[in-house]
Amino acid sequence: MNIAIVGTGYVGLVTGTCFAEMGNNVICVDIDKQKVAKLQSGQVTIFEPGLETVFERNVNQHRLHFTTDLGQAVEKSQIIFLALPTPPGEDGSADLSYVLGVAKQLGKLIKDYKGSSQQKHCTRRHCRVGAPSYCPKCYCVV
Ligand SMILES: NC(=O)c1ccc[n+]([C@@H]2O[C@H](COP(=O)([O-])OP(=O)(O)OC[C@H]3O[C@@H](n4cnc5c(N)ncnc54)[C@H](O)[C@@H]3O)[C@@H](O)[C@H]2O)c1
Repeated sequence: MNIAIVGTGYVGLVTGTCFAEMGNNVICVDIDKQKVAKLQSGQVTIFEPGLETVFERNVNQHRLHFTTDLGQAVEKSQIIFLALPTPPGEDGSADLSYVLGVAKQLGKLIKDYKGSSQQKHCTRRHCRVGAPSYCPKCYCVV
């Protein structure tokens, strides 16, 4: 399975590395060019016990890749996870602007969608809440 992880921080890097360890081909995307350059050169950018060993194994076996190019990652991937910041807003609710910003980009990039009718329902419900024009091709936001 080809998987993209958008946002390669604490959650994204650990998740992507674990999916690669399970045998998937993973591409991790981040807008932070310095972070991506470090990861591409084999440096782990966070501390998580045991991560470095698994990271190295999967980079060396070409199952774990890093890019700043969202389009390249989406083109090759069957599943896309967003591991983006959701900082608390002024009223304490989660600020979804990072997630919705990337969702908007995905709406333009995704060319094909396969899912159940229930997943499509999730998408439509989410669209009504915050992203009416983000999902012209009806992908799943859960
Ligand atoms: N860290 C935790 O222990 C933890 C636990 C539970 C839930 N979460 C949730 O998981 C999510 C991610 O948390 P985290 O700790 O990994 O955050 P993080 O700040 O470590 O990582 C977020 C990454 O997203 C990148 N990013 C921002 N905008 C981007 C964009 N447009 N395209 C691509 N990359 C972009 C940032 O450069 C950063 O590397 C948050 O919603 C957080 O609340 C985190």
